[in-house]
Amino acid sequence: MPSKSEPIIIVGAGAFGLSLAHELAANRGYTDVTVLDRHLPPVPDGSSVDVSRVIRSEYADPLYASLGREAIEKWASPEWSEHYHEAGFLIFANGQGHPYFDACLQAAAGRKLFSGDQIDADINQLYPTVNAMTAGKVAMDSPQGGWAHAKNAIAGLAERASQAGVTFITGSRGKVVELLQEGNKVQGVRTAGGATLSAPTVVLATGAWTNRFMPKLEHNLSATGQVLGFIQLTPEEVQRYKDVPVMINLSTGVFTFPPTPDTHQIKIARHGYGYQSSMRASDDRAISSPRDSLTKYIPREAAEALQHGIAEFYPEFAGRPWCNTRLCWYMDTPDGDFLADYHPDIEGLFFATGGSGHAFKFLPVLGRHVADCFERKAHPDLQKKWKFHTVTERPRTLVMGSDGSRGGPPLRKLSDAEQAKL
Ligand SMILES: *[C@@H]1O[C@H](CO)[C@@H](O)[C@H](O)[C@H]1NC(C)=O
Ligand SMILES: *[C@@H]1O[C@H](CO)[C@@H](O)[C@H](O)[C@H]1NC(C)=O
Repeated sequence: MPSKSEPIIIVGAGAFGLSLAHELAANRGYTDVTVLDRHLPPVPDGSSVDVSRVIRSEYADPLYASLGREAIEKWASPEWSEHYHEAGFLIFANGQGHPYFDACLQAAAGRKLFSGDQIDADINQLYPTVNAMTAGKVAMDSPQGGWAHAKNAIAGLAERASQAGVTFITGSRGKVVELLQEGNKVQGVRTAGGATLSAPTVVLATGAWTNRFMPKLEHNLSATGQVLGFIQLTPEEVQRYKDVPVMINLSTGVFTFPPTPDTHQIKIARHGYGYQSSMRASDDRAISSPRDSLTKYIPREAAEALQHGIAEFYPEFAGRPWCNTRLCWYMDTPDGDFLADYHPDIEGLFFATGGSGHAFKFLPVLGRHVADCFERKAHPDLQKKWKFHTVTERPRTLVMGSDGSRGGPPLRKLSDAEQAKL
């Protein structure tokens, strides 16, 4: 186990890196924690930014459901509540029989099921301005849940980490290009500026970028681009829709947020199987990884699917042009479980990643649980979930991100022409 006074390098200032850094420095007595990233947090192309993330405790898996409830309690507490909007969470499915929908409904008391001819009237009793197309559908409401302001929550956490003594290095000196090893022991990192930083413990909290440093991870991690878009509303329109909940359509994976109070925009996105890019890793293998660019490009069929979603959730805004679109890069694991474990063969190398598009909601409690794994004292159930799995424990045939909550078309590799636009 790492000593509390020796240097610890955490690569990546996203949800995993910051929450772990903060926990180690603020609550566990680690005195030499350094976070490296290309950018100051909130990192503009990370999956921990932009205005909103769903906060929910609806999970088919009881462990995440319980973590979700723990996190929501924290989101509602004074430390985090300025970033949390308890707008409610409404889940739509095309009839019952959807495994995730049914499991969530069974898993917790207090969820309301809406169906049949009454569906519109019942939903409108709770959310008078919801106007989604509901004919023949079922829906489930969770009053505890809503959304968090991702960018602001991250900025606040970075500030608290800094106050707790965490060192931040950004720019070319913070851009890690190589992991340094001697034999099977980690030594530190090399940065784009050419400098090396030594530490006996390195944490890769590198999200979708992880395969660049550790290309031989086989079936454990794969980066996928997920689409999202924003439309602009007028202040009057925002006033009209300010009390809508977060809504997801499980048939398509498309979900949407209430209008943001400050920028007056509605965000819509797809929690799907996503897109892969291809680029060369340091050992020349082809990997899927985000480009370090801020492009608005999203594939055409995805833009159409999102427009379709707008028309279904907010019929009044059908056809409104995008004011922004982008790909948000997930780091997926086969079953959607996070990775918080030491590399089995490289001493001193810890992974805190694999968010699989659902980690942000745990931000207020993520650091504590990841730090427990880091100190090898997490509950065995959690440790087992977030560890490196072997082939026998996790068959290669699993489709990435198969936790049951995603929808839409299967994973697709972007064509060369599409990748040229990234
Ligand atoms: C990753 O996954 C593969 C196959 O699923 C497994 O054999 C391997 O040991 C895992 N761990 C690492 C560190 O690559
Ligand atoms: C969800 O998507 C399905 C498939 O496109 C569609 O039939 C249904 O109307 C959608 N439901 C809502 C509430 O938008």
